[in-house]
Amino acid sequence: MDNEIDQENSLLKNIASSDLSSAGENGEAVKKLLSELDGLSYKVKIALEDVSTLLDLDALESLYLGKKSKLTEIKRELGGLDFDARRIVGGKLNDLRQDLSGIFKIKRESLQKDELQKQLAEDICDITEITETDLYGHLHLVSQIRRELEDIFLGLGYEIAEGNEAESDWYNFTALNIDPDHPARTMQDSFYLDLGSDNSLLLRTHTSPVQIHLLERGKFPIYAVCPGRVYRRDTADPRHLPVFHQIEGLVVDKGITFADLRGTVEVFIQAIFGSKTRTRLRPGYFPFTEPSAEFDITCVICQGSGCRTCSGQGWVELGGCGLVHPKVLEATKVDTDIYSGFAFGFGIDRLAIMRHNIFDIRALIENDIRFLTQF
Ligand code: DAH
Repeated sequence: MDNEIDQENSLLKNIASSDLSSAGENGEAVKKLLSELDGLSYKVKIALEDVSTLLDLDALESLYLGKKSKLTEIKRELGGLDFDARRIVGGKLNDLRQDLSGIFKIKRESLQKDELQKQLAEDICDITEITETDLYGHLHLVSQIRRELEDIFLGLGYEIAEGNEAESDWYNFTALNIDPDHPARTMQDSFYLDLGSDNSLLLRTHTSPVQIHLLERGKFPIYAVCPGRVYRRDTADPRHLPVFHQIEGLVVDKGITFADLRGTVEVFIQAIFGSKTRTRLRPGYFPFTEPSAEFDITCVICQGSGCRTCSGQGWVELGGCGLVHPKVLEATKVDTDIYSGFAFGFGIDRLAIMRHNIFDIRALIENDIRFLTQF
């Protein structure tokens, strides 16, 4: 069909330079068609004045130049005319089509320019709205909370321990009593590092390996926390990030009992969430502690009465804890007749979203200045 139109176009072009006197017996029809073409040209020019969007322009172009347009209809009528009449009307029609196409093109370019300007004006960031304090920036919420936690534990006499982000299999799993076939290894799907010969190096999946370094150091008592980044093969969703932060606590001393753990959890949770927040321990399972527990806090939204955030429970889970498993102490050559200890660990990012009622944990890494400046 397009091919047919092209052929017709070129035929019309070739014969398009004559005047009405040679229109022969189709003179009347020619006059009518020529005045229709004039009318069309006039109508298009008027209509174009009211067009202010690209969408309207497309609609107008298809109305006047498209396959179902009056122009195409006139072109079809040419078939019924004699040679001279076809030559005259066809020539005029082709000129008009070219003329209108040019006009549409110019209008389109001008509208595109306007729309771009409009878009730029909308996207503009008024930097005069930024206050002087905003200009200096501040610590990210997660760093703020990490520092708060460090301060709380420093106040309790703890040291801040440094861990490694790349750990061997021994520190991340084996010494923590997570044996090769243990389901915990599949639970914590890991990023292994391809370093040639040794393929047992991985990005730590939790901060617990720092317990092993502290125990191997052999200096007692130990009162330490280790905050830091951890890595898991998780797809980011509202509650998970593949890279996030945990804080690990380890206390090893003479005569440490579960009551010490209970009291410590209570103290630091109230320091971070406020004195109204209550805590509870529920029996849990971790290979590196025995007995193990998960600790919950009263929901910060409803203060324990039950709401949507805590699924009506009044409690939300924060982390895990327990007494250091004798196997962990034995693996690090600690005399279990003298020493016992407790450990705990929880996510700092998770704590941040709970304390500030942030709906989606991914907001923490999106770097939206409007979000970050709230904290
Ligand atoms: N490492 C655990 C995890 O990533 C958290 C944890 C649980 C740490 C119990 C502990 C602990 O120190 O005693 O899920």
